[in-house]
Amino acid sequence: MNADNNEAQVYLNGQFIPADQARIPIMDRGFLFGDGVYEVVPSYGGHFLGLEPHLDRLDSSLDAIRLRNPLSRESWRSVMRRLIGAPPAPDQSVYLQVTRGVAPVRDHLCPEDVEPTVFAVANPIKPRRPEIATQGVTCITRPDIRWLRGEIKSISLLAAVMMRREAEDEGALEAIMVRDGMVTEGAVSNVFMVHRGRLITPPTGHLLLTGVTRQLALALAREHDLEFLETQIPIDDLREADEIWLSSSTREVLPVTRLDGQPVGNGRPGPMWQRMDALYQQYKEEVRLGRI
Ligand code: PDD
Repeated sequence: MNADNNEAQVYLNGQFIPADQARIPIMDRGFLFGDGVYEVVPSYGGHFLGLEPHLDRLDSSLDAIRLRNPLSRESWRSVMRRLIGAPPAPDQSVYLQVTRGVAPVRDHLCPEDVEPTVFAVANPIKPRRPEIATQGVTCITRPDIRWLRGEIKSISLLAAVMMRREAEDEGALEAIMVRDGMVTEGAVSNVFMVHRGRLITPPTGHLLLTGVTRQLALALAREHDLEFLETQIPIDDLREADEIWLSSSTREVLPVTRLDGQPVGNGRPGPMWQRMDALYQQYKEEVRLGRI
């Protein structure tokens, strides 16, 4: 394998090596306990979108699980840049993961002197299918069976894996989760709705992830005078919404046009989504040109 080929290389504990040579010991706590956190950071043309907010959130997740960040901010930036290659590079996301490391025995309590395991890899970002802008995507709703620390970007993702499978089995892209009658977020995305021209999204806190794409969409809304509100969304209100959107780093902002088999609004991507998507695409192009 060509050592200069960036696509084939992953980063593992200080080394850039071909993916098929990367090995994790079986006693790694990520493997045994899901004891770790992660980030997914998109890049366009060799420039990251939201790198600093993603690294800030990594710090918060690590603080929350009482794990020190094994790399400095500058080291993260340089590892991640090396994985995607110099501009103009293809559009890719970097998946990065820090686990508590390899302990001598399987014990929920971890000794203090264990070195975290650090892994990062670049993956291509699939361009959005053109039908999505005209037809939108389908979602189902499910009870939010996850834990109560949704703000931590934990690698323990069993509920999300189960939900995405259930969604797929019903021909849907995503499962929107509902706790105590209120919408929290998607299995792998944040949720917005539009009601009478106003954009509404559930407030951040322990129940959901503070999505970087969510924050960007709200910043764009603020900058361009779109009215928005961060407040609880009862599931019955979601069913009456004029528009529903999903947001995530790899899927951007998507229009949801069917929910549990029923049309959302008039069943087509709405005007507010079109406006937000145009703003988002414009922002992305600025990133691609290295201007942001
Ligand atoms: N997931 N909520 C959950 C539960 C998520 O898993 C994600 C993203 C988001 C959106 O966050 P952001 O805008 O920062 O990507 C919200 C990533 C993409 C994943 O697990 O692959």
